[in-house]
Amino acid sequence: MTLLDGKTLAASIEKELIDEVHHFKVSGIIPTLAVVLVGEDPASCAYVNMKVKACDRVGIVSIAKRLSEDVAEDELLKIIQDLDKDENIDGILIQLPLPGHIDTKKILEAVSYQKDVDGFHPFNAGRLLAGIQAFAPATPLGVMNLLKSYDISVRGKNVAIIGASNIVGKPLASLMLNAGATISVCHILTQDLTFFTKNADVVCVGVGKPGLIQADMIKEGAIVIDIGINRLENGTLVGDVDFESVSKKATFITPVPGGVGPMTIASLLQNTLLAAKNRKLKDQKS
Ligand code: GUN
Repeated sequence: MTLLDGKTLAASIEKELIDEVHHFKVSGIIPTLAVVLVGEDPASCAYVNMKVKACDRVGIVSIAKRLSEDVAEDELLKIIQDLDKDENIDGILIQLPLPGHIDTKKILEAVSYQKDVDGFHPFNAGRLLAGIQAFAPATPLGVMNLLKSYDISVRGKNVAIIGASNIVGKPLASLMLNAGATISVCHILTQDLTFFTKNADVVCVGVGKPGLIQADMIKEGAIVIDIGINRLENGTLVGDVDFESVSKKATFITPVPGGVGPMTIASLLQNTLLAAKNRKLKDQKS
């Protein structure tokens, strides 16, 4: 069994980004990411802090907008429209979930697709599905980059993805389908989860249920990607896979923490630099 070490890979991506961002700044453009957080959900606050710190480490400027839980939808929309108009901002990230009184789809569509470094705008989601160059959401992109760095191809493989969210499961299915895999996307209504996981060469899971994937649910030699992050009552961080038993049967497996999580942040930074590069190209044309 080989551990898919996202922590080390993310650190080496960040190291490369430090140089790239530095050289890019010399050309006169300072890559800048706006991060919007509504409310004080502890997990969302922690993610936003991690993203802001990661920007600092590689020299990307971050502007964090922390708004109260009861911000009106119109007010939030106006803030996003202003960030979108600001020519010094390359990327806009709206931390999800948003409070129930806000129409998430409407807010996500207020970000222009060129600044949509999270890849949540339907324009980018559609292009991703069609296999056209697009911003891909950071977590699925991180998974693909992690597999690539270990020379693991999904071409011709059976992949079971558990979790059908717009943030992870659906875009991961698009990326893997475009890479030549046969995909089953499983979700809360899936009747016989084991049927799908047992037949899969690659199992990807991200639903927030500790211990969901047990050794008897996977085939010998499977590749297991754990996208779940759960904090147990004793404070331990675990994924959705029973690592202890599953790691004995898998050929490759991601640890939690230290697997997909750090790759998500690295991919966000890469997307932000890409947005800044696109801005430079646009400036040169005009
Ligand atoms: N909430 C959970 N995951 C994510 C993510 O990758 N990006 C944003 N913006 N919000 C999230």
